[in-house]
Amino acid sequence: MDLQTCIHTRRSIRTFTSDPVSRDTLEEAVSLAAWAPSWKNTQISRYLAIQDPEALHTICEQYAPFNARVIGGCHTLVAQTFVKNRSGFERDGSFSTDRERGWQYYDCGIAAQTFCLAAHALGLGTVILGIFDRKGLEQYLNLPEDQELMALIAVGYPAGTPAPPKRKDVETLLSFR
Ligand SMILES: Cc1cc2nc3c(=O)[nH]c(=O)nc-3n(C[C@H](O)[C@H](O)[C@H](O)COP(=O)(O)O)c2cc1C
Repeated sequence: MDLQTCIHTRRSIRTFTSDPVSRDTLEEAVSLAAWAPSWKNTQISRYLAIQDPEALHTICEQYAPFNARVIGGCHTLVAQTFVKNRSGFERDGSFSTDRERGWQYYDCGIAAQTFCLAAHALGLGTVILGIFDRKGLEQYLNLPEDQELMALIAVGYPAGTPAPPKRKDVETLLSFR
């Protein structure tokens, strides 16, 4: 698949088949996501693949009821985390710019989209999920102290191809000075 087609045909997938996602395929998607650009090449994004059905059930029930249908139907839930206090920070711990902690989230966004495009090219469907109890889930997942939970990404083989939601036209998005 060429890049234009990959960008155009990636959709947020919320319904999956029961086919398992192999460790090899996830490793391939993450090895491609590793090529995402990041603040001073700090590469802060991490991926925790949750496949245990009991853990997925607990996450649906207790930490992400709004997205329970999606998470309950996916094979793998990737918790995207990041190593704190590197992207956008100086060595002495001060902020590099007035964006303060914001560059961490920026880097994670780029990495997440790179992961989703790579997954799509490998035949997988994904949807980024932002609505969940972050602090509760961080505790449940027993994240290392130096990491923060950024987003959840449901992963599986797509059960269908949703119609593409409309996009704004280039005249709205692009301006010149
Ligand atoms: C930061 C972020 C958070 C999102 N959170 C959710 C979510 O909690 N639940 C959900 O079903 N979709 C979520 N989405 C998916 C968007 O709704 C979706 O990307 C958008 O409607 C465009 O559709 P497309 O990805 O198929 O092009 C999220 C997407 C992003 C980038």
